[in-house]
Amino acid sequence: MEPDGEPYSAIVTGAVGCRGGRIAFIGESAEATGHDAVETIDCEGRWITPGLIDCHTHLVYGGDRAAEFELRLEGASYEKIARAGGGILSTVTATRNADEEALVRASLPRLDALLAEGVTTVEIKSGYGLETSAEIRQLRAARRLGYERQVGIETTFLGAHAKPPEFEDTGSYIDHVIGEMLPAVHAEGLADAVDAFCEGIAFSPAEVERLFEAAHSLGLPVKLHAEQLSGLHGATLAAKFGALSADHVEYADASDVAAMAKSGTVATLLPGAFYTLRETKAPPVDLFRKAGVPMAIATDANPGTSPLTSILLTINMACTLFRLTPEEALAGVTRNAARALGRDSDIGTIELGKWCDLAVWDIERPAELAYRIGFNPLHSRVWRGQ
Ligand code: NIG
Ligand code: FE
Repeated sequence: MEPDGEPYSAIVTGAVGCRGGRIAFIGESAEATGHDAVETIDCEGRWITPGLIDCHTHLVYGGDRAAEFELRLEGASYEKIARAGGGILSTVTATRNADEEALVRASLPRLDALLAEGVTTVEIKSGYGLETSAEIRQLRAARRLGYERQVGIETTFLGAHAKPPEFEDTGSYIDHVIGEMLPAVHAEGLADAVDAFCEGIAFSPAEVERLFEAAHSLGLPVKLHAEQLSGLHGATLAAKFGALSADHVEYADASDVAAMAKSGTVATLLPGAFYTLRETKAPPVDLFRKAGVPMAIATDANPGTSPLTSILLTINMACTLFRLTPEEALAGVTRNAARALGRDSDIGTIELGKWCDLAVWDIERPAELAYRIGFNPLHSRVWRGQ
């Protein structure tokens, strides 16, 4: 509930006006009559929300990991599979073997599944190439998706996702990421942000810190996979660098939360990964709430820990597994997701001057977006006024 307004900041009998792809009017429909619109569309009492934003995905990759899913059902853990060279590295092999065209073709059905549920902006990470040319190919394929479909694409460089087999140790690989890969990706203008996987099976906080310093020296914002499987205070480190978001954050503690509150870093919750890995430690939602840390939620769509391309199921899971309210969950895929991308001046709410990205729903009340499982009430989707 907003301090002095309707729940969900709703306008019960509202209208939205659009000019040149931007929102030119938002308010009571009675007040919209003075505007002379070229075209008027009657939504017949349906709910209109901002277009949904999936602010954390690994949507572009080759192959799949169904065999690993079977291994995990037989008792192998995600960490054990990763240490044995499976997991992320098996997707790296498949991604390196795919050309740009193949990556685009493999990714379009996954993107289409998101768009069918009202998504208008998607963040896509690299991190399955782990060598300069393959990382660049992955990011180019991601950007191309934005030409193939009516959707905003934000790309994030995640070269520090895992150590590729060609490198002896994570330290020498991070040197390579900093010295060669990041500058090359940046020179091509392919990264809107820089991310890393801070974890026992991936990169240490000290290594991430070196990467973040390099990102900042290029003027790139940072975000971090932090406190997913253990508590290393990656979230505190991220906050120190003014990160847009710290993601997963199941193991974040009170000191991490305080640091994030101070820096305005968004907590991006990823219930699909929590569910798939059958984790039991939920993120400290109450601490985030009390500290005023904005919470975003996202699919984390990836072939290993979250083969999930339903934003509506993600909203449901955030409520059922993490106890977000339906209103918090909706803010998590709109306003706060926009913040997690540093794009809140442009998208995420229905406000004058922002892009006219909307989702129109066949629902009686917004809680239905969180409550149903496996039902899609989207009526129509508007991207930049179209
Ligand atoms: O967000 N945590 C690291 N990265 C992904 C998993 C990637 C994979 O297993 O392929 C995640 O969960
Ligand atoms: Fe992820």
